[in-house]
Amino acid sequence: MNKKFSVVIAGGGSTFTPGIVRMLLENLDRFPLRTLKLYDNDEERQGILGEALAILMKEQAPEIDFSYTTDPEEAFTDVDFCMAHIRVGKYAMREQDEKIPLNHGVIGQETCGPGGIAYGLRSIGGMIELIDYMEKYSPECWMLNYSNPAAIVAEACRVLRPDSKVLNICDMPVGTLRRMSQIVGKTPDELEVRYFGLNHFGWWTSIKDKEGHEYLDQIREYVAENGYLTTVEVETQHTDPSWQQTHKKAKDLLAVNPRYLPNTYLKYYLYPDDEVSHSDCSYTRANEVMNGREKEVFDAARTITEKGTAAGDEFHIDSHASFIVDLARAIAFNTHERMLMIVENNGAIANFPDDAMVEVPCIVGNDGPEPLAQGKIPDFEKTLMYQQVMVEKMVVEAYVEGSYQKLWQALTLSKTIPSAGVAKNLLDDLIEANKDFWPELN
Ligand code: NAD
Ligand code: G6P
Ligand code: MN
Repeated sequence: MNKKFSVVIAGGGSTFTPGIVRMLLENLDRFPLRTLKLYDNDEERQGILGEALAILMKEQAPEIDFSYTTDPEEAFTDVDFCMAHIRVGKYAMREQDEKIPLNHGVIGQETCGPGGIAYGLRSIGGMIELIDYMEKYSPECWMLNYSNPAAIVAEACRVLRPDSKVLNICDMPVGTLRRMSQIVGKTPDELEVRYFGLNHFGWWTSIKDKEGHEYLDQIREYVAENGYLTTVEVETQHTDPSWQQTHKKAKDLLAVNPRYLPNTYLKYYLYPDDEVSHSDCSYTRANEVMNGREKEVFDAARTITEKGTAAGDEFHIDSHASFIVDLARAIAFNTHERMLMIVENNGAIANFPDDAMVEVPCIVGNDGPEPLAQGKIPDFEKTLMYQQVMVEKMVVEAYVEGSYQKLWQALTLSKTIPSAGVAKNLLDDLIEANKDFWPELN
């Protein structure tokens, strides 16, 4: 246990970077660091957060070699783990992803529906670039990726870099499990779940404590009344009023399919009309975040740099992100931690294609995740998942082949889009908005 690790955070200018750095410092006893580097391809963003975090690191962990850079060679040389959270196109493009569909009467969302597809086509190139830097400069390094849209990114990695050491993970099930544990008066560590689905598209089938007591019924009763809204706030993320609405909406998701506990993201597929009618196409979640989290984090950074000290606690700790340390530890120390991961199915869901990227519980050790068999799933969930996974696959095919036709089909297949005609009009607007990012489509 004497080993100390070298970590690079890719997307070092992300709104989540300060919270994750503070979380890493909080967890040094579990995951010791010798080096911490930030890497971003936007010099200005990286400079602002990097400068402030350099002050914080000097005050709180001077023994760790800290630096920030926009040079890939410097960033990726001598690293054991790359924690990746990039957003290709940044918030300006998230805003487009949300607003363009809404202007066609379709849900506008970061990772679901047409917005997620547009984001996917931007992210693939950026992610492949990171993987290639990592493999060139630190071939032994593992990438812990939570860059979105994770479903499409994971499928692209499967197709384009099948042998790379990239692990894709999402924080939504982690956050929701915190809520569930509050509902039953336990801690998340005391609970073990069974779950199947795709990223941002799945269901819990069991929530048990270590003694084997099943809480599914108790949580179901609660969710049927309140969704996942808890009496006490248990998360450091997903707390804004729009998120509270999402937690509450789980009630309606459960009503349509009472057998299992739903991932809240299913609301975009099962109640898209409600979502559109509650949306304001001139002020979407991207605007909320730009005026909220992004502003707060960058203001905090400027304050720290001006004062020359981080003693005022301007950067908040993202304690819910400690699952990233659990994942790094699982690889580094072969802990065989049980975690939900996005992996190639290969039979984990018995009646679903082997080559689908699914989200299931896995045992993670130093060779990576070993998926746990979830058995056969019912028709309702399977049919929804199959439609959605084919959208994700066709988006990656469209990217690889540069195919307009395939992308049109992928959009047409998405449950969020009512017709091929709407899909085509939307596609043409998305192509125009994404011309600096997407491959050329023929
Ligand atoms: P952000 O825009 O604040 O930060 C992203 C950073 O990535 C920016 O500074 C940008 O310059 C940088 N970047 C873009 N392309 C890059 C490239 N090719 N190389 C290096 N850096 C690049 O975004 P955010 O809101 O902080 O979110 C960051 C990412 O984390 C997003 O992809 C978001 O969807 C994802 N996320 C995922 C989960 C999950 O559950 N998987 C949870 C939260 C956030
Ligand atoms: C959850 C999801 C992430 C997503 C995020 C958006 O955490 O798991 O994949 O990126 O929500 O949150 P935001 O606050 O940026 O809207
Ligand atoms: Mn996610």
